[in-house]
Amino acid sequence: MYNVLVTKKLPGNWIDYLKKECNVMLWEDIYPPSKEWILQNIEDKDGALITLTEKIDKEIIDHAKKLKVISTYSVGYDHIDVKYARSKGIIVTYTPEVLTDATADLIFGLLISVARRVCEGDSLIRKGEWKTPWYPTFMLGTEVYGKTLGIIGMGRIGKALVKRAKGFDMKVIYNSRRKHEDIDAEYVDLDYLLENSDYVVIAVDLNESTYHMMNEDKLRRMKKSAFLINASRGQVIDEKALIKALQEGWIRGVGLDVFEREPLPKDSPLLKLNNVVLTPHLGSATIETRDKMAEIAVKNLLLALKGDKPIYEVR
Ligand code: GLV
Repeated sequence: MYNVLVTKKLPGNWIDYLKKECNVMLWEDIYPPSKEWILQNIEDKDGALITLTEKIDKEIIDHAKKLKVISTYSVGYDHIDVKYARSKGIIVTYTPEVLTDATADLIFGLLISVARRVCEGDSLIRKGEWKTPWYPTFMLGTEVYGKTLGIIGMGRIGKALVKRAKGFDMKVIYNSRRKHEDIDAEYVDLDYLLENSDYVVIAVDLNESTYHMMNEDKLRRMKKSAFLINASRGQVIDEKALIKALQEGWIRGVGLDVFEREPLPKDSPLLKLNNVVLTPHLGSATIETRDKMAEIAVKNLLLALKGDKPIYEVR
């Protein structure tokens, strides 16, 4: 039997599946365990199954004398010091692919919601403020169909966005580390993308080169009529600069699923702005996808513990 730490309850029967071959120490709360709890309990563990709310830094890795694998229940792995873990011979695994379509769907949902003022309209009705019968200039939004979509980052999620955009007859331009031949979209440089897109979607992962990539200078390059959508990591955008951009009208609106601090603080100026649609980090949050993520995270962990090749390893 292997000794493993699991920092969240998972959907389905995947923890029971793990228990057939492992002694599982499970953190049962929905609030994440403290760093102290992880430090106290990681020392004798062969494996750890964690989520994005657990930061695995050098100190934890140094404590984890027997650890062979860190399996994260997420596509992002910016919460893990992967380089250091690998230098200690620890395999890091993750759950890409199974959440691509759910995340791309949510991004399109945010895009349409902010462009067509869906949430504003909903809250107007709920507040009892829908007082006038239909008239031609009431709550006008911005068209999506036929517009230019700029995608920053062309990984799995970027490609899933291209497919959806084609259904809306959008012109798609993109910027990423390299050109891709297998997509119906034009590679452009980042400033061109920002200056020419009606919708800018961020689909990069968070790392040193993407931290605060959308800063004041980049936001100012966007069209005044354009929208920004982010469901990657909050830290990719300089949130202070974004708030200024929205307050001063440099861009028309924003759809956000992720924030620099999560949960979003109650006093965030974002909450006072109408041209903002917010969701609480729901990119992969469908019943189907979260179940598949549990299967992959558990199987990744077991495969690596046995010395076999995991389904998805971070390299
Ligand atoms: C969610 O944000 C993930 O990284 O899976």
